[in-house]
Amino acid sequence: MADAVAERAWAKTNLRLRVLAREESGFHGLETIFLRLDLADDVELVPGEEGIRLSVEGVGHREAGEAGEAGEGGGTDDDAAAVDPAGRVPGGAENLCWQAASLYHEAAGLEPAVSIRLRKRVPAGAGLGGGSADAAAVLRGLDRLTAGALPPEELVSLAGELGSDVPFALAGGAMALGWERGRRILPLPAPDPRPMLLVVPGLRVPTPSAYGWIDEAREDAGSAGEQAGGAGGGLRLPPPEELRSWDALADLQVNDFEEPVFRRHPELGWWKEELLGEGAELAFLSGSGSALCAVFREPRRRDAAGERVRASGEVGAIATRGPL
Ligand code: C5P
Repeated sequence: MADAVAERAWAKTNLRLRVLAREESGFHGLETIFLRLDLADDVELVPGEEGIRLSVEGVGHREAGEAGEAGEGGGTDDDAAAVDPAGRVPGGAENLCWQAASLYHEAAGLEPAVSIRLRKRVPAGAGLGGGSADAAAVLRGLDRLTAGALPPEELVSLAGELGSDVPFALAGGAMALGWERGRRILPLPAPDPRPMLLVVPGLRVPTPSAYGWIDEAREDAGSAGEQAGGAGGGLRLPPPEELRSWDALADLQVNDFEEPVFRRHPELGWWKEELLGEGAELAFLSGSGSALCAVFREPRRRDAAGERVRASGEVGAIATRGPL
């Protein structure tokens, strides 16, 4: 067995997120476009004594609103520190990393004996896929530590069991279409990365509640929601060369969570408008929230917006870019 392995766990956002009808399983069909962001946690796996051990460390613990540097190639430790990324990360068996390690060992018929060191930069509970990326990094790391004890397709299937964002995080790549609860992934040609600003409020939106709010609204409207439409979720994508253009991508931008989440947390809708007012080309809720992702044309504008957002003292802000 190798001594120790280190993996990076990249954050994501969803440029497009359509929530389709609820299936018999209780889960919803999805049609989504994942973007990988230049912001990552570090995951280190060290073969150890019996069992699974997990330690979580945040990068800094400054209060939201304190100034952080917003440089190009963002996601610096300082930026992330402003939103206390480790503050809401569960320890032990509740953590997706722990569950990933447990599932992996069980599937491979191995006794677990590993220490996981997690260094957080991606804020938890914000719709940025940090927990999922950490879990995918654990799967990749264990695959390396055990020299491939499981066949690749089994790794993908474990990723699907762990959560909707884990298969994309496992696959890597800058941009992908996801459907069937995120279990199916089609890598897409990506445009040049754009400067982005993540606005991270202190509030948390539990993902199951957000799905429940969509169901409630549909029940009230007497609609079941759109059915999943076969390969690729039925989404008709523009030709690959157009996907490299931000104009074409802007036409695909939608997030079905915005309406129900903004209704319950109007301040998030307010921040979206602020970001558009600050010159963002696009601003949208990331996943089911609570972070907002704003896409800018120039780093200068992104940084100016970041300064004003931080100056409010109400929310954290992380400069990043994507997809990459
Ligand atoms: O996969 P993820 O960790 O995001 O799922 C969290 C919860 O969100 C699930 O337990 C389920 O309640 C809900 N969910 C859903 N349909 C999906 C994905 C998640 O209803 N496609």
